Amino acid sequence: MGDRYEFIGKLGEGGFGIVHKAIDKTTGKFVAVKFSKQNNNEQGIPARTLREIGILNMVSVSDFVVRLLAIEEINGRLGLVFEFLDTDLEKLINSVPLPPSKVKKYMFQLCKALFDIHGYGVLHRDLKPQNVLFDRDNDILKIADLGLGRSFTLPEHGFYTMQLGTSYYKAPEILLDSNDYYTGPDIWSLGCIFAEMSTGKKLFTRRCYSDVNSQLISIFSLLGTPTEEELPGLTSKLQSSHWQTKHLRYKCQDLAAVFPSLGADGVDLLSKMLTYNPAQRISAGAALEHPYFAELDT
Ligand SMILES: Nc1ncnc2c1ncn2[C@@H]1O[C@H](COP(=O)(O)OP(=O)(O)O)[C@@H](O)[C@H]1O
Ligand SMILES: [Mg+2]
Repeated sequence: MGDRYEFIGKLGEGGFGIVHKAIDKTTGKFVAVKFSKQNNNEQGIPARTLREIGILNMVSVSDFVVRLLAIEEINGRLGLVFEFLDTDLEKLINSVPLPPSKVKKYMFQLCKALFDIHGYGVLHRDLKPQNVLFDRDNDILKIADLGLGRSFTLPEHGFYTMQLGTSYYKAPEILLDSNDYYTGPDIWSLGCIFAEMSTGKKLFTRRCYSDVNSQLISIFSLLGTPTEEELPGLTSKLQSSHWQTKHLRYKCQDLAAVFPSLGADGVDLLSKMLTYNPAQRISAGAALEHPYFAELDT
């Protein structure tokens, strides 16, 4: 089996996997093969990999989700074989400024991807530009890395645990350790990606890596400090932490001035994706119907 693929180099490495570029000798096509980083005390196939396979089997049929082609044992390790895509969205954003028409086109594709993923009863939970791949020939984005995905139709133990990794795209309710979230955090992350595509810069960054509070402050300083009604659970968090009162009084900035290239409709959609209360945040389906997408170049 191991002879079917000729490995030609590393494509990327995240917290959990290493992805190699290879040629599938039976088809002559490039593929991307993902191996999970094995934990020393873990035996057999890691749970995360099994979950990723189960979820990919459901959602990989969407045009805007990376396609899983095969699952192979290669030199004694389990490899997930994916269609090869040219690059990821993080590298794309860092290489060229995206014109407003492209931002709109790509956002529509990502809303469609999330609509499909959520439609299958799956939450992605780790949306960020590194986990979105770019198909240059067809000019489409595809969502990848469902390793943290969960099916919300099947209750699971440990469902809501905070995950390691970057917090820049995490919704405020996750930062506050809420334990009843649904599709809202994926939409929040998509809003962060929307803003980043339009400005070329990460939307919410924080000074101190380990500090969740500074991530919240970064959010509040743009969108205003929310009330308890807007962000349930906030006040108890504030009371139990050592925040300075100055952090509690931010006013919402004029988003039209911060994101001039989005236009009024784009700013409206962005603010609906970055709505504090997850119950009031726009859904992927409603986003697809938003006037921002009324005129779409295809
Ligand atoms: N199908 C693919 N084609 C091209 N590059 C890929 C592909 N899948 C992943 N990559 C690259 O490898 C990186 C890590 O893959 P990912 O699935 O996100 O693994 P991890 O779970 O470790 O984050 C991605 O950010 C991307 O740059
Ligand atoms: Mg990843």
